Amino acid sequence: MNEALLQFDHVSVYYGQTAEDKGLQALSDINLTVADGECVCILGPSGCGKSTLLNLVAGFLRPTEGRVTVDGTDVQGPGPERGMVFQEPALYNWLDVSGNIAFGLKMRGLPVAEIKEKTARFVELTGLSGFEHFPPYELSGGMKQRVALSRVLVGGPRVLLMDEPFSALDPATRQEMQDLLVTLRDDNRCTVLLVTHDVNEALFLADRILVLSARPGRVIDEMDLHGTVFRDRRSEIIERSDMTALHRRIMTAVTNHSSQRGDYG
Ligand SMILES: Nc1ncnc2c1ncn2[C@@H]1O[C@H](COP(=O)(O)OP(=O)(O)OP(=O)(O)O)[C@@H](O)[C@H]1O
Ligand SMILES: [Mg+2]
Repeated sequence: MNEALLQFDHVSVYYGQTAEDKGLQALSDINLTVADGECVCILGPSGCGKSTLLNLVAGFLRPTEGRVTVDGTDVQGPGPERGMVFQEPALYNWLDVSGNIAFGLKMRGLPVAEIKEKTARFVELTGLSGFEHFPPYELSGGMKQRVALSRVLVGGPRVLLMDEPFSALDPATRQEMQDLLVTLRDDNRCTVLLVTHDVNEALFLADRILVLSARPGRVIDEMDLHGTVFRDRRSEIIERSDMTALHRRIMTAVTNHSSQRGDYG
């Protein structure tokens, strides 16, 4: 097992807390250690705090209680070593594909030649060759998500955060994007935290699956899939009986906990 990269230590989040009002509790006492290079998929009922959990790592939000650390340092705010890909890719419509991918590198003041070289590499890696000069509004959903993924990975993040990144895509495109993510991860060696509602997606991508309870989210189940060789054998996920058993276990964990509450998002 690699070294720990990301750590949640007794983390709770309350929204709208004031001196008189405790506010709305989104996460409750999350303790989590993610190893360098690990891919952790997070499932749980709608509104249980999955996005909140990613936002803490992204630095968009601070924990009300506890600590979130990357490489032993408290997350104080957003930074290029932690990149987020959302369900709806928010691309810059006034820039073309290359311009979108290069944007963060330009902001960081990297040398022009290096920006060009890195951008071209990601255009190629993510299958966007020939579309370098297309504006985002002329791209399909899957292509937009390729740009969004490139834009984050080109900066060389240690942690890639993905919030239901493929759920707006059709099944075939979703599968293509999952395959692409596996390839890119092997290439870029970053740690991934991915939120999904799709159990098969988690079974395909994860080294470890975490299931959160209904709000306030707590970790109620955890499945270690390290060493399970099904990454490049998608059909086995559907066919193998241990995968079917895992599928059932996750669904039971998610649905039992969502039926206990009325607030799902
Ligand atoms: N900025 C905010 N201010 C107040 N409440 C918030 C805020 N963001 C989220 N919440 C609340 O916190 C809870 C957790 O929200 P969160 O978005 O983390 O859930 P989620 O698990 O990502 O849901 P979904 O699966 O629907 O995306 C919800 O009840 C939500 O209404
Ligand atoms: Mg969410």
